[in-house]
Amino acid sequence: MPKITFIDPDGSCHDVDGSAGETLLEVARSHQIDIEGACEGAMACSTCHVVVERKSFKSLPNPEEDEEDMLDLAFGRTRTSRLACQVTLSEDIDKLSVTVPEQFR
Ligand code: FES
Repeated sequence: MPKITFIDPDGSCHDVDGSAGETLLEVARSHQIDIEGACEGAMACSTCHVVVERKSFKSLPNPEEDEEDMLDLAFGRTRTSRLACQVTLSEDIDKLSVTVPEQFR
């Protein structure tokens, strides 16, 4: 079962369990982590933008081109940014650490 650490903009950490097949956005919502996700995963916004810790980022499949395009609209995009609605957990993922940005667009 993947272990996810969500880090709030103020630095506080929330360690939660995810399940294979769930997206990061779904895990966040089921644990009351404050990620907006305005388009409900339709990849029509960037309000589910998260910054994945570098080591965790390498364990994920690369983002598709559509996700890259939407990430270009995200406020404060970094090299390890992802859309939480597009990261699906699998059994291959032991743990992930992601920071929720202070601002989103
Ligand atoms: Fe809109 Fe992820 S919820 S792009």
